[in-house]
Amino acid sequence: MTNFNDTKWLVKTLRSGKPRDGILLKICQYLKTKIAHYDWVGFYIADPEKQVLTLGPYYGAPTEHVRIPFGQGICGRAAETLETVIVHDVADESNYLACSLDVKSEIVIPVFKDGQFVAELDIDSHQNNSFSNQDRCFLEKIGREVAVLF
Ligand code: SME
Repeated sequence: MTNFNDTKWLVKTLRSGKPRDGILLKICQYLKTKIAHYDWVGFYIADPEKQVLTLGPYYGAPTEHVRIPFGQGICGRAAETLETVIVHDVADESNYLACSLDVKSEIVIPVFKDGQFVAELDIDSHQNNSFSNQDRCFLEKIGREVAVLF
């Protein structure tokens, strides 16, 4: 189990000198590999003018949801409310875009650069109730750190 307080790996990854998407992919790989209840980890990039999210780097099964209008699904809800969304059981959601029947819970973290919404970090889990306040704090910290890439 990863120590949520240890973000040395993140600092190292951010300073690797790779292009933005290479760094984002490394972060996805790290999170999915190190944290057992993270089964799909990806970034969506925001286009506020078109009000759409586009799938960016991700690690996990391919998804058909490569373009998500603001307002649609959990990702679209986070884009509209500009707040972290945690769904403990996706079966309870009427506004949900299913990637796989295996997914049972989800967390979406908005990323802001200079106060502007630029991206989201989206994580799916194959178990219900996977995401606690500890996950939220950890992932919001990652969201604040990756803002420098935008
Ligand atoms: N479930 C998301 C769609 C994206 S996938 O999880 C990768 C949603 O409802 O917005």
